[in-house]
This record gives sequence, C-alpha cells and structure tokens, in this order.
Amino acid sequence: MKKIKSYLECISCSKKYYIFDPRYTCTCGDLLDVKRDLSEINGKKLVKKWEERWGMKSGVLSSGVWRYKELIIDVDKEKIITKQEGNTRLYPSGLAGIYAGIPKLLLKHEGENPSGSFKDRGMTAGVTVANILDSKMVACASTGNTSASMAAYASKAGFKSVIFIPSGKIAYGKLAQALAYGGKTLQIEGNFDDAMELVQKVCSELDIYLLNSINPFRIEGQKAICFEVLQQLDWKVPDWFIIPGGNLGNNSALSKALMELYELGIITKIPRIAVIQAAGANPLYRMWKNKTAYKAVKNPDTIATAIKIGNPVSWKKSLRGIEWSNGVVEEVTEQEIMDAKAMVDKAGIGAEPASCCVVAGAKKLVEAGVIDKKASAVGILTGNILKDPDAVINYHMDRLKEVGINGSYKNIPIQIPADIQAVKTALSNY
Ligand code: F0G
Repeated sequence: MKKIKSYLECISCSKKYYIFDPRYTCTCGDLLDVKRDLSEINGKKLVKKWEERWGMKSGVLSSGVWRYKELIIDVDKEKIITKQEGNTRLYPSGLAGIYAGIPKLLLKHEGENPSGSFKDRGMTAGVTVANILDSKMVACASTGNTSASMAAYASKAGFKSVIFIPSGKIAYGKLAQALAYGGKTLQIEGNFDDAMELVQKVCSELDIYLLNSINPFRIEGQKAICFEVLQQLDWKVPDWFIIPGGNLGNNSALSKALMELYELGIITKIPRIAVIQAAGANPLYRMWKNKTAYKAVKNPDTIATAIKIGNPVSWKKSLRGIEWSNGVVEEVTEQEIMDAKAMVDKAGIGAEPASCCVVAGAKKLVEAGVIDKKASAVGILTGNILKDPDAVINYHMDRLKEVGINGSYKNIPIQIPADIQAVKTALSNY
C-alpha cells in the first residue's frame, strides 16, 4: 500500500513545513503538529488492518505503537527503533474504582512499558525520527521518566544521549535507569522548567536532537495509548478519559488521537477528557478554573515529582483538546494523591504517585457530580510503582508528616523475634 504522506503545521499560524524539517517550533514561535491528509484514508479498512496485526508475535508491527503506524509516521520498517513497547493491560480498577466512587473505571497501565512508563510510546517515534535524520546524539530535560526512556532507546539505537534533570529532585528508580542505560546525566541547579529552557538552547546551539514532547513526533507516538485502549474495548468509546497533566504532552496526544479517529469515522462519540494536576503544580487548572490567561506557576512543588512542572510546554495543545472534548481540569492535594495511590496499590495494580492523580481526580469529580458514578471511564496510569519506592515506603512508615501527608492507609512492617509465638501474636488481629 502506498505510504501516507504527512507534514508539519503550526498550531497558530498554520504555516506548513516538510515532515522531516528538523525543527520543533514554527518561525512564529508556536508549537507544531504532525498532519496528514485524512481524506485519503479509509477508516474501516484501517481498523481491519490494525485488527489483523493484533496479537502478532514478533517484528516491528507487534509493537503497540507501530501497529498503528499509518497514524503515527508511515516510515520504512528498517528505520524504526522499537522495544516492542505498548501492549499494556487495561485493568478493572477494583478497590481503586470503588474508592473513587466509579466502579466501571478501567486503568490502562502504561507503567508496563519496557522502561516502566508511557514515555516509551513517544520515544520510539522520536528516536526513529532521529534515526531518519541521522542524528547521533539526542537530549531531553526530564522529571525522570522521559530521561529513563530516552537513555534506553538511544542505547538501543547506538546514539549518545544527554539528560538534563533537576538536581536531587527526581525519583531514585528513574535516576538509576538514566545512569544504567548510559545517558550522560547533567544535574541542573534548578527545577524542571529551568532544565527545559536550557535544553532547548543547548540543542539548537550544539545541533543535538531534542526529544521532549515539544518534539511533535513524541506526541504522535503517545497517541497509540488511545488507539490501543479503544482496540481493547472493541472500538467502544468510554464516557471519560482521565489522565494526569505535567508538561501536558500526553493529554494533547490523547485528544489528537481522538480527533483523528473521529474525523476518520472510526469513532462517532467524543469522550470527555479530564486532566488532573497536582495542586502544587497546577498552571492549567488555574487558567481553566479562573478563565484567565496562561501564567506559569513559580516554584512548583508536589510529591508526584513526575509532574512537578510550573511552565508546561504543551499547554496550548492541551487546552485545544480539552475544549474539543468538552473536558475538565481538576487539581488534587498531596494527601489525595497518596491516599488514592494507596488504593491503586492495594487493588494489586500499583503505580507511581503522578499516575494516581487519576484516581484522586476521579473521586473529586464524582463527588462534585461532574462525572456520573455510573459512567464508563478509562484512567491512564502513566508510571510503574517501582519508579518511586521512597514515596511508597515513607507513606507506609508514616514519615511524610513533615510535608503534611498522613499515612492514612499505612501498612507498617512489624519486627519480631524468630519464634512462632511472636508470629501468632503478630497475626492475631489480621
Ligand atoms: N505521569 C508520569 C509518570 C510522568 O512521568 C509524566 C511526565 C506525566 C504523568 C505527565 O505527562 O508531561 O505529558 O503531561 N513526565 C515528564 C518526564 C515530564 O520528564 O518524565 P505530561
């Protein structure tokens, strides 16, 4: 079949560029979208092709991203750098859904990706384009997961990777991955927003390929979360998608995917998107709630370090999608995040703090009557429970009081002598 042609287009002034023009923004300064002529695509035939690829055992098209390559980037298979990402489970939420008051909530566990977060989906697309452009060095600023993913994919491709992380402020599991996969790791004296500003300057001056979600191909890869959820649901659209918001790339990808499926007639209903931010890092929430102009939050802070971001790059794309889907933005407190996390974990699913904003946010929106308790909803769990063991241990040992978080559902380990009587006593009220 002939390849689907695509191009880059500015989200503001609609200026178009060659698809592999190595740029991240328009000359007017705004973000770029990857666009393709959807009128050339037959939606029914496309879905049939995707269904045929479902369950493929090996090869590039067994990836949960490249299965959908027609709507990602239709490139030669030989150029694709993949780790068979995606193909993650969609769990009934059990205890977590009951806690949130919405039992039909399903949780898509993107922490089951190869590097333990949803970032692998965007990264396979971004690193593939780096390969097409023959860039041998890639870089990103990160709160941890992007860097872990980029370092892994860069190593797989034989590229060098340079990582800009806020010094001392990323979860240990993520730092460990960056180092282990061989990324040159630069700990910046400053927060994520400072690192993001710096990496853009560095990439343009040193001719390094930038792999943050300002790169439109990262967004294209991340759209596959939506495609895969809907395929798992036999293309039946839930009432809601609920997703955490940090740099705001992932929800931008979700709405872009839905817009394209809708335009192709593959779906005929538009689900509402709820973006959940941590109250300490909530620029989108403030803007949406108060109907004010965009303003970055200075000194963002939250235990959900993945989304500790005050100046998100993709806020315009995010807002575009929320408005299109008649969506909402909610904020959740530190206590709400960690209590919801205790429920996601106890349900036997488990995820890192930022991901659990989904359940905390669902609970708030159900209580406020925004989400109906009988609604169907899919929450995106973005990162693996093992990414941030400190947050888990400190909560269960009740050591987060100084940052204002109680271990409401704590599970403290008990130290006992090695004898059977001590075991009986310990188990007496279990
Ligand atoms: N959840 C997790 C686990 C994340 O790592 C991130 C972002 C998000 C949610 C938010 O997604 O930025 O697309 O709105 N982490 C980035 C990083 C910023 O550097 O790893 P977003």
